[in-house]
Amino acid sequence: MRIDVVSLFPEFIAQCAAFGVTGRAIERGLLSLQGWNPRDHAEGNYRRVDDRPFGGGPGMVMLVDPLRRAIAAARAADPRPVRVVYMSPQGRPLDQAGVRELAGRERVMLLCGRYEGVDERLVRAEVDEEVSIGDYVLSGGELAAAVVVDAIARLQDGALNDAGSAEQDSFEGGLLDCPHYTRPVEHELGKVPDVLLSGNHAEIAKWRREQSLRRTLERRPDLLDGAALTEADRRTLDRLRQG
Ligand code: ADE
Repeated sequence: MRIDVVSLFPEFIAQCAAFGVTGRAIERGLLSLQGWNPRDHAEGNYRRVDDRPFGGGPGMVMLVDPLRRAIAAARAADPRPVRVVYMSPQGRPLDQAGVRELAGRERVMLLCGRYEGVDERLVRAEVDEEVSIGDYVLSGGELAAAVVVDAIARLQDGALNDAGSAEQDSFEGGLLDCPHYTRPVEHELGKVPDVLLSGNHAEIAKWRREQSLRRTLERRPDLLDGAALTEADRRTLDRLRQG
């Protein structure tokens, strides 16, 4: 998969992606990440990329043309069609299903705004969808783009050392993840639950499922509506609610 990032700070995203799972995915050739700086496509001695908003008000707005030329250069660098995503607090809130959808594409382009945002005409002409990483405002789209790159990278086949890890994550199947334990069995902070030491895989799976359900019920009951629940899950939830 290929991700192009259009940003005034492309090095920032490259640095964020250089470590851990994303770094390995890039090294293994599972993901290629390419930055495009609108400043390289700006004109004049000052290479201006922003201007004051019409109608007045604070802040600056990113100009259409440098962004448009950067996007055109990115599009032309690879013949495959590309999904253009503008990182914006006005966008669709990102969730794991949305990450999966993006991760299944061959090409995605992430557009990062700075200042008050980008000229709306550019958004209308070039952007397929707007995506937000949460209901708070960042000073630019770069951190949001880095989040998207990370979440996509770890879903690429071969990116995680253990192929089962991604399926076990929080939100896969719509539930929060269960708790995890490792050595030592006995510690001054507590003992590992017996069932995990039992070697009984069916019992372990049952315990983990119940823990996921319990956590989701306690912490994010809103997720239960969209979760893939079995009849047994519903009975477990009824029991947990009662008790
Ligand atoms: N740019 C600024 N804030 C953002 C947010 N919450 N999500 C995505 N992009 C952003």
